[in-house]
Amino acid sequence: MVLKKDTTTPSTMSSPTIISASNEYSPLRALIIGRAAHSLFPSEPPHMIRATMPTLHHPEFRPHHPFPADIVAKADQELDNFARVMTERFGLKVYRPKEVDWAKANEGRGGYTGAMPRDGLMVVGRTVVEACFGWGCRRGEIELAYHDVLEDIMEGAQKAGESVRVCRAPKIVGADTLYDGLLDDDKPEDRKDGAKQNGTFNSQNGNQTTHWAINNTRPAFDCADFMRFGTVLIGQLSHVTNPKGVDYLRAVLPAPYTVELLNTTDDHAMHIDATILPLRHGTLIYCPSRVTEEELRRHEVFGDWDLRPLPWNPEEEEEEEEKDEGPPRYMCSKWLALNAMSVDEKTIVVEERQERFARWLEEEFGMEVVRLPFRHVNSLGGSFHCATVDLVRKEL
Ligand code: NVA
Repeated sequence: MVLKKDTTTPSTMSSPTIISASNEYSPLRALIIGRAAHSLFPSEPPHMIRATMPTLHHPEFRPHHPFPADIVAKADQELDNFARVMTERFGLKVYRPKEVDWAKANEGRGGYTGAMPRDGLMVVGRTVVEACFGWGCRRGEIELAYHDVLEDIMEGAQKAGESVRVCRAPKIVGADTLYDGLLDDDKPEDRKDGAKQNGTFNSQNGNQTTHWAINNTRPAFDCADFMRFGTVLIGQLSHVTNPKGVDYLRAVLPAPYTVELLNTTDDHAMHIDATILPLRHGTLIYCPSRVTEEELRRHEVFGDWDLRPLPWNPEEEEEEEEKDEGPPRYMCSKWLALNAMSVDEKTIVVEERQERFARWLEEEFGMEVVRLPFRHVNSLGGSFHCATVDLVRKEL
């Protein structure tokens, strides 16, 4: 197959060094890697936890409940090791967030973690966009943990004479209305009527309608519900991303970037980065239980791409936690192997126990797979893609 060259990335006059990324796979130069200390189970209403989290672990999601201390400590070791490998082996510039006591965040109501920056920050071209988090417990997360990183970026850009824009999330004034009509203690008749309320939205998931855990009364989106493919961002509606969030993102993105929505068939949708994984320009792996090739091809950007479903279903494999007594995956599905991070179009970082996936990438796609331990970070809600924000990727 002859592939069109990636001509969709806007060309720039000089070679930027502080902020510049328009895809998920061209050579990485600088990134943020999160920090796990003091992570708490996110405390959100039961209807949201039921919609997004593995059933087995629902009882853990209660106010002020820290993740087990040994898991957090080992997660921090894994993140530090990952940062060291990125710096020493690949010569990348790595930014780290501040350590935050999440128990004190949100005026004592508690936060979540500093380990998953992908959810809250996204670089599109030379613009950094902060998520309008749907989850109340994540409000302030970027300000508390990443303020200094954003300052460093702005200072670096100024020194380098680069023009960089940081688009911070708007502050919510007054009560947040995002769960109105959806809370468990609402009367069932209210919830039924909720479907008629202005703010409510459902979306067609194949043949079924998904009732999301948020309404559409204000913009909400997590950056991890979007991926960059040149000037086109591919995203999804989810339990944390609503149509107003997508409109907001479209409005703040610089020209000529646009957003297209993928119809995913995932009732528990929250973050697109275990549903699709682009390896390089022209090659993408996808989770066939969540999206079809036909739906991907509907997007012109994938017209001539090699689109490959993961050829086995991780949900049917033996539970790793039983097999090797690894730490519980409290917040993620078994598709988490797809949450890998590309260093460049030939090199990808994969969790060291995902050996079947690693070998498939090597044998089928000729990738160089960097295997690193990350199981304790996985416990906190994500893998290498979630735990990073790529700040500079060299243009192809
Ligand atoms: N919520 C999704 C994405 C995680 C990165 C999942 O668990 O598969």
